[in-house]
Amino acid sequence: MKVTIVGAGNVGATCAQRIVEADIAEVYLVDVIEGLATGKALDIAEAAPVVGHSRHIEGGEDYAPAAGSDIVILTAGKPRTPGMSRDDLLQVNAAITTSVVESIVAVAPDALLLMVANPLDVTTYVAQQVSGLPRERVIGMAGVLDSSRFRAFIAMELGCCPSEVTAMVLGGHGDSMVPLPRHSTVSGIPVTQLIPAERLEAIVERTRKAGGEIVSYLKTGSAFYAPSAAVTQMVGSILRDEKRILPTCVKLQGEYGIDDVFLGVPAVLGAGGMEQVLEVELSDEERAALDASGDHVRETIAQWQKLQQES
Ligand code: LAC
Repeated sequence: MKVTIVGAGNVGATCAQRIVEADIAEVYLVDVIEGLATGKALDIAEAAPVVGHSRHIEGGEDYAPAAGSDIVILTAGKPRTPGMSRDDLLQVNAAITTSVVESIVAVAPDALLLMVANPLDVTTYVAQQVSGLPRERVIGMAGVLDSSRFRAFIAMELGCCPSEVTAMVLGGHGDSMVPLPRHSTVSGIPVTQLIPAERLEAIVERTRKAGGEIVSYLKTGSAFYAPSAAVTQMVGSILRDEKRILPTCVKLQGEYGIDDVFLGVPAVLGAGGMEQVLEVELSDEERAALDASGDHVRETIAQWQKLQQES
């Protein structure tokens, strides 16, 4: 199994490290900045004897070695700095996505594309448009990250083991995301029975702003440890055919009454890529929030289409 990671910044390099160290696949790391991917890949390879895996990893500046990849992870793009919304990255990152996807499709036409750059739901749309690949093979990572944050905050609140907490966050990767406290449990016990409503609401609000919270601390960039962990879980589920049900940014085709928009929903990830969208029962309020999130993504896509027509 082979994974190419485009972008050797914090997110890309940490994904590379996690994927080889978890013994999931060999990795090719590519970045336009001379020496960056080569140096980081070599550094990761030099840790292999101590960490104890034998996965090959190398880096470079050209796309040719990406041939034969099963998955290509696109992290290339600008991160946020304090005060920016993810949508502020639209023009620059959608343009980067277009050029990267063209290069990738030329050498690895069968690879599944896993998008990470923001604004996530729109870069995933752009990647699908440019590649022409079916929706099963163009997905975005955000829901696993947002859910992991939600789970971590619930665990912090209760002082319990984070992996015992299950939770889902649906919708777009932005302020309009839709955490679902009603579907969240700790060892099977609904969190609504364990945490008072106003505390839970504060946790939901913190989850919505969690990416920005990290940016406000780091100042020069955005999160990468939790994002790379989320990517690695998705990659593992696909390449090992684990068929995990993970919140994934996918193109909706009528599910949840939404058509032709990319949005985070629970999906089965396995050897067939995005194998199935699962429709969970939503309350009126949750459905309205998902609709609003879909409207927001649709507006951002329209903004990108307008920018393209003007250029
Ligand atoms: C975040 C950015 C990467 O949520 O979108 O941290």
